[in-house]
Amino acid sequence: MAKMHPKARQLELVRQRMLSVADLPLKKTANQLVFGDGNLDTRIFLIGEAPGRQEDEQGLPFVGSAGRKLEGLLSVIGLKREQVYITSILKYRPPNNRPPKLDEIKAHTPFLIEQIKIIKPFILVTLGNFSTKFVLAGGNTEKMSSIGEMAQLHGTKHTISFGKVFCEVMPCYHPAAMLYRPSLKQVMEDDFKKILIGGV
Ligand code: URA
Repeated sequence: MAKMHPKARQLELVRQRMLSVADLPLKKTANQLVFGDGNLDTRIFLIGEAPGRQEDEQGLPFVGSAGRKLEGLLSVIGLKREQVYITSILKYRPPNNRPPKLDEIKAHTPFLIEQIKIIKPFILVTLGNFSTKFVLAGGNTEKMSSIGEMAQLHGTKHTISFGKVFCEVMPCYHPAAMLYRPSLKQVMEDDFKKILIGGV
């Protein structure tokens, strides 16, 4: 029998614990948990906002139209999705894709922090407003509202620690933003190119 990657075993325990929380917000309205997907030895960890319809159907993050945009951005810097780890702030789909609420972020993100501690990436790429604010607030949801706006934050690297895990952070717009603001494509490609600067 093939040996399981030690990180896969640890992540599976976290996933099982998350599944066992009966009253986790959004669990009742979603089809399934969208926990995360990708390379467990990667140095690049991407954090989106929340699963949409296709993610909710397939149980995988970024498999719909935003996922295709994300794959396009990764290809600009010579990466495939199999080379990075991808997850989101919320792991159950909000009804009609409405924005995450604070109590949902509070309930879901302890599992995200565990994922980060297991993968131990070099850089967190935050995709959009919610993951950027959560990460730059050091995981303190009370401080999220005092973090600035994406227009100022995107494209500038920061350093952050979650417990003993120190990471670089590259705030980027959410790939779905390109669907309704095509002019962001060049900005987002330029931000993605900075992910690799300084070595990852
Ligand atoms: N958008 C996200 O933020 N996450 C997904 O998994 C899909 C779309």
